[in-house]
Amino acid sequence: MEFAEAMSTKFGTAVSSGTASIHTALGALRLDAGSEIICAPITDPGAIMPVLWNNCIPIFADSYEDNYNMDPATIPALIGEQTKAIVCGHIAGHPCDMDEILNIAEDHNLCVIEDCAQAHYAQYKGKTVGSIGDMGCFSMMSGKHTTSGGQGGMVITDDEELYWNAKRFADRGKPFNTDEPSNLFLGINYRVTEIAAAIGRVQLEKMPGIAKARQDFVAAFEVALANEDVVCCEPSPVADGGISVYWFGTLLFHADKCSKTMAEYGAAVGAEGVPVGGDYAGALVPTKQWINDMQTYGQTKEPWTSPHWKGDIDKLDYANSVPAGEKCVAQLMRYGVHECQGEQDAVDMAKAIAKVDSAYRR
Ligand SMILES: Cc1ncc(COP(=O)(O)O)c(C=O)c1O
Repeated sequence: MEFAEAMSTKFGTAVSSGTASIHTALGALRLDAGSEIICAPITDPGAIMPVLWNNCIPIFADSYEDNYNMDPATIPALIGEQTKAIVCGHIAGHPCDMDEILNIAEDHNLCVIEDCAQAHYAQYKGKTVGSIGDMGCFSMMSGKHTTSGGQGGMVITDDEELYWNAKRFADRGKPFNTDEPSNLFLGINYRVTEIAAAIGRVQLEKMPGIAKARQDFVAAFEVALANEDVVCCEPSPVADGGISVYWFGTLLFHADKCSKTMAEYGAAVGAEGVPVGGDYAGALVPTKQWINDMQTYGQTKEPWTSPHWKGDIDKLDYANSVPAGEKCVAQLMRYGVHECQGEQDAVDMAKAIAKVDSAYRR
């Protein structure tokens, strides 16, 4: 409950990972098999696989070309009779355009699950992410802003019934908050250990400071970069009204201004000893082999072959469904952000970029 309170919601239940948190949120909705879920295109597989474990069909929104998050304008065309929810991800810690997502969800009676695995304490128009949709999901894996000792997760909500269902789902359907003598429905065991909970409670207290330190570092880096003569890249935009907590930072690469590819430019900057360079192509889930080959339950291709799903398996073309996402991962360069980085690191990073930029610009 402390976590829920810190994120400005009434209820919260701890689970064993961020992946488990998405599965638990979907489980709490008690969806029919074959339901369609609008998913983030650029994300961790841990945000997509639970959809399939829940016997639902992922349908991918496309991203922006200069921001990894889903572009709400691509959602309405994907909505059909079986669409039940949107799982948006605040990727890199940059908040999604929640107003637009919520408007679409309201028009079509869809639930909104916010995947905040990379975005603890990010803000959108004065609200903490995770408290804006119907449920918020968090990862507390060791690399995230806060950890519960290696692996962990949270599901938060203002809806009491969803809270109880989440708790029930994550503990084998136990009849919490009922007089029923036995388990209520299919669930799983995603419970956290007491030691993980104890670590998580202590780490939670550090979270506002961690978020601020990351924001201060990025602000210092952007000032330092603006003070250098750099033409091949610039900071990429965050949604209007959004305040990122930077799980990592993002730079928009201008291929037309550079004599080298983004990979070569990034590798050269990285070789200067600063954490700048990689792309995020590995996170463009709809283009990945496993999902296009429908590698799920043996050779059955379930749930796409389930009679419960009324869609047409032959018309699904995940690999070609996210052209903006492909452009996005091709032109956004990531840089490492950590709460221990200070002003000197910001200046060193900007100088390393400027050095490579002067050699590689057209
Ligand atoms: C956006 C996103 N969603 C879900 C997950 C899954 O979280 P976990 O690794 O804790 O299962 C991650 C993990 O990195 C993530 O980045």
